[in-house]
Amino acid sequence: MSLKVVILAAGKGTRMKSNLPKVLQPLAGKPLLQHVIDTAQHLHSDNIVAVVGHGAELVKTHVTGLNLEFVLQEQQLGTGHAVQQVQSHFEDDDTVLILYGDVPLTKLTTLTRLLNLVEEQYPLALLTITLNDSNGYGRIIRDNQGEVLAIVEQKDANPEQCCIKEVNTGILAAKGYWLKRWIDQLTNQNSQGEYYLTDVIALAVREGFKIATTHPETELEVLGVNDKLQLHTLEREYQRLLVNDLMLNGVTILDAHRVDIRGQVTAGRDVEVDVNVVFEGQISLGDNVRIGANCYLKDVTILANTVIHPFSHLESCQIGEECIIGPYARLRPGTQLANQVKIGNFVETKKAVIGKDSKVNHLSYIGDTVMGTGVNIGAGTITCNYDGVNKHVTHIGNNVFVGSDTQLIAPVNIGHDATIGAGSTITKDVPSGELTLSRSKQLTLQGWKKPVKKSHKLR
Ligand code: UD1
Ligand code: MG
Repeated sequence: MSLKVVILAAGKGTRMKSNLPKVLQPLAGKPLLQHVIDTAQHLHSDNIVAVVGHGAELVKTHVTGLNLEFVLQEQQLGTGHAVQQVQSHFEDDDTVLILYGDVPLTKLTTLTRLLNLVEEQYPLALLTITLNDSNGYGRIIRDNQGEVLAIVEQKDANPEQCCIKEVNTGILAAKGYWLKRWIDQLTNQNSQGEYYLTDVIALAVREGFKIATTHPETELEVLGVNDKLQLHTLEREYQRLLVNDLMLNGVTILDAHRVDIRGQVTAGRDVEVDVNVVFEGQISLGDNVRIGANCYLKDVTILANTVIHPFSHLESCQIGEECIIGPYARLRPGTQLANQVKIGNFVETKKAVIGKDSKVNHLSYIGDTVMGTGVNIGAGTITCNYDGVNKHVTHIGNNVFVGSDTQLIAPVNIGHDATIGAGSTITKDVPSGELTLSRSKQLTLQGWKKPVKKSHKLR
């Protein structure tokens, strides 16, 4: 006996009006379908089978998961037809869980509750919810004792059935044997000419079975996405949950509506985040870290007491303790800052390993560089790392002082304690402890006269 998860993801999503298949539309930066796969992954199922159709090739290459398989449903003839495509994947005594690729936020606890019903006794269990506005959903038909009799799709429902507020979320669990038996009997004799998965309920009832039902804790868990407006609604609600979690973990958020999390953020104590900050990928913030307004951070680790001033952009970098970054700094992949480093305004770094207490305070480009401790880089310094074909490395020793407006033409080594005069173009290695500069001598032309403006009057 084992668990098989089936995710229906073949539909076109016409109302998205997008070239991207619906299940690949991003929610918090991650495809809708990937959310479903990630949740399913926690159920420890034997395998997860995604039924793909519209945009199948694209879908296959944009989602991943352990034991994830894809089955093609060439023509989308309905949810029942979709499940028919995968029935060879389940054994009689398997428990099968059906999920939808466009319903991304169902909680693990809710799914576990549903699965327990099947594992304990019922051949089929449904996740239903009561909504104020049941428009568009299949309605749950119950008898006088409250037992489920059938699901009627809205397009097939009579006016009385249309008033029913309890609806089918689409998510169900069933024993493999029974599910196979009932989906074999589906027909497409309905208003949409589709094979409805929902018809298995009436088939089960006809064989004398009781149908178990359970409900999600919140409506958000079963909200599906059909158009960009619904996608936006879900995005905002989900973001709010993520930000709430951060706040409950002690992070100070200046405005919960103006922080977006597209990945995982872990934070120490007394972290503060100002407005309009976007976190992407894996973010780790140490104690007392402060992130200023309008910053973008992707895959960044920042150790304790560091301050990121406003309008800074950091990607794939590691920042030590007590650093001061920005405002307007751009730290590109491969930047590694030791403790107490300062990176100032309009400075770009890339593959730059910078030692403790070093400062690059203004208007510089530091790329492919290994810098020691206590270095001071003057304004406008550029490591010229690219010769048009290859990249080269600049090594800067401890306690070097580089004067403003210097170009360091890599590959080049600057010895420790060297000083480089402002305005230099350094093409050769610089010895330790000396002053090196390359600068043409300053001239003053004695008696030179300023030009006088000519008269352009026509005679
Ligand atoms: C379905 C349910 C309805 C329920 C609603 C919840 C049926 C017949 N109806 O209706 O009771 O209230 O979901 O949102 O099941 N899909 C395929 N192949 C197909 C058709 C659909 O993979 O041939 C996938 C879609 O990509 C989607 C899911 O199945 O992820 C649901 O399909 P959709 O067409 O949205 O069904 P609804 O009409 O919303
Ligand atoms: Mg739908």
